[in-house]
Formats: sequence, structure tokens, C-alpha cells
Amino acid sequence: MTSDQRPAPNDQSPPTSHQHPSLILGIETSCDETAAAVVEDGRRLLSNVIASQFHLHAPFGGVVPEVASRHHLEVILQTIDAALAEAKVTWRDLAAVAVTAGPGLAGALLVGVNTAKALAYAHDLPLLAVNHLEAHLYANWIEVPGEDFREPALPALGLIVSGGHTDLVLMRGHGSYERLGRTRDDAAGEAFDKVGRLLGLGFPGGPAIERTARDAPARTALRLPRAWLKGSDDFSFSGLKTAVLHVVRGESGAPPPVPEIAAAFQSSVVDVLSKKAVQAALREGARSLLLSGGVAANGPLRQALIDRSPIPVHAPPPILCTDNGAMIAACAHHRFDALRAGLDLDPQPGMRFAVTA
Ligand code: KG4
Ligand code: ZN
Repeated sequence: MTSDQRPAPNDQSPPTSHQHPSLILGIETSCDETAAAVVEDGRRLLSNVIASQFHLHAPFGGVVPEVASRHHLEVILQTIDAALAEAKVTWRDLAAVAVTAGPGLAGALLVGVNTAKALAYAHDLPLLAVNHLEAHLYANWIEVPGEDFREPALPALGLIVSGGHTDLVLMRGHGSYERLGRTRDDAAGEAFDKVGRLLGLGFPGGPAIERTARDAPARTALRLPRAWLKGSDDFSFSGLKTAVLHVVRGESGAPPPVPEIAAAFQSSVVDVLSKKAVQAALREGARSLLLSGGVAANGPLRQALIDRSPIPVHAPPPILCTDNGAMIAACAHHRFDALRAGLDLDPQPGMRFAVTA
């Protein structure tokens, strides 16, 4: 279980774009992290508790849904208690309980949704149903202790890159989105995970590939393909994955060392994501670029976007890129009225991104 420090209160800060002064508890259980956080005014992180299960899934090389839901059930209450304790708040201080309603694994979502419903009912608090992908974008609205807070300027171009999704979204305003592009096959994180497995680097593949690639020489002859899908904002990573497989099998000569393959794979993904995101942002007249989702923790991807983009790039600290409860609470704050749910709320494993424009 990891947790962030409570930042020093900063009463001089300007108000956010929203009027709900609030302490919101955010609960996230859509995949393999049981997470809870308390966020003030959608922006100040009072606590951020994440119980990761990756060690349970690592021997299987991927997330096992039944194992995930059972473990969520075991640790969810203690995770929520820890989030309240660390934030030094009680149930009476809270304005709402927000929970990921989808998309995600059905059994995993069920644990979070039912827990949130029970707690909202028991403590007479509003219940808010949050879309996990929309919430990833809102990680960019959370203040980072020690850094000047810059609220992202809208319209913004959001690049959401996670284990299950790769979406390019134009965010015109809070709750107003247009999806410009998506992956046609594997998500970026899924490609990292599959290639990590191919290279024998374990699960999850993303952080392992990033670490391993650091040992590659700066210049290497190995260059893997890039699927540009010209004229479209869509992505495709399955051809790249197959190209890695051919290299690993030594189909065109002895395979290069693993760090070189990892570096070549990473640079192909980073190149395509960063170039296409910046292109779309400029074409659409976006005023900022929002990187989010687990793959947003990738250092070379963050750097490539910063290097290429003439408009400001926002990327949450890595602990807020991967799944967490803080982004759920932040999203709930900015979309409070629209996300109100009743106690009949059901998990929505296939929940669509709230495309309203
Ligand atoms: O957003 P997330 O925590 O869960 C989903 O909503 O899917 O994303 C998890 C994904 C995994 O595929 C993982 O390999 C990838 O994010 N990831 C990374 C890095 N850290 C996590 N990919 C590349 N580089 C990283 N440093
Ligand atoms: Zn996620």
C-alpha cells in the first residue's frame, strides 16, 4: 500500500472553475488497484491510498478477473479507512462518495460500486458515478505539492493511454468531449504488457520496458515499424507487436539484446503517440495537451510530448497516471450535478466515454 503526503494547505490559491466547495471520497476498483482518496475542491490531495495487486497477477502474466474482485473485497474497507485517516477527516466532513462505475472488469467494478452505495446510504451522502476514462483526464486538475498549479486551458486535447484504452479526445469544456481517435486493435498499455511478456520482462510490461530500455545504447540499428494510419486520428499497435515477435524469434538474423528491442519498441510507440497527439491538438485549435492513463507515467513519452508540443503539456505525476481514487474524486467535483446517481446504480463494464459533442 502506498500513499502520498498531505500537501500544505494553500488558502491563497485562486478558486477552480467550479463552485462546489467539497471534500469528496473517490473509490476506484475497475482493474487491479483498490484505491481510495480524499480530494478537496477537486484539486487538493488530502490522501491517496492505493493497494496494488500486481504481485498477485504477475505469475499469470496478466490480470485474472476473479482474483482481482476477490482481493478488492478483502481490502476495500481498510483502504477507505486508511484514506479517511490519512486525510484526517471523518464521514461527517465529506460532501459525497464518488466511485468508478465503468469501464472495467465487471466483478471488480461491482465491489467498488456496491461498497460506495452502502457507504453513501449509511452516511447519507450523495453518490456520484464516474467514468474511469474521463477521470484519467481529471488527474491533470490535481495540484502537485511543491509545483505551481496551472489549471489546463480549454479546449484541450486529451491523450488517454492505459492498459485498456488509447483514445484521443477533444475536451471543449467540463463534460463536453469529442472522441477523435482510438486504437483499432491493442491499447498502448496492452502492447507494452504483451511485449514485456515476449521479452521475458514480467508484468506489468510498461515500467519494465522503460527500465530495460535505459540499458540500450543511444544508437541502435534496430528500427521497428510505425503505424501512422494517415488521415485518421486512430492508432494501431498489433503490427508492432508482431514485428517484435519476429525479431525475438530471430527470423531475420540473431536477435539483438533485450534492452535494444525494448528501446526500439518504446520509441516506436512514443513516436506515434506524441506526433499524432500534437498534430490533432494543433489542427483542432487546442490550448493545452493532457496526457493521462497508466502509460502517461512513461518518461520518454512525457518528454517527447513536451519537446514536440508548442502548447502547454500537462502530465500528472506518475502515481496519479496509473489507477487511483484521487482522479475519481477530482472528476466528481467538476461534474458534480451531472454524475449524481441513485442507489440503483449498477456497474457498467462497457461504459462509453461521455461523448457529448
Ligand atoms: O491506467 P492504468 O493504471 O490501468 C488501466 O486503466 O488500464 O494503466 C495500466 C497500464 C499497463 O498496461 C502498464 O503496463 C502501463 O499502464 N504502464 C506503463 C508505465 N507504467 C504503467 N507503460 C509504459 N511506461 C510506464 N512507465
Ligand atoms: Zn486506468
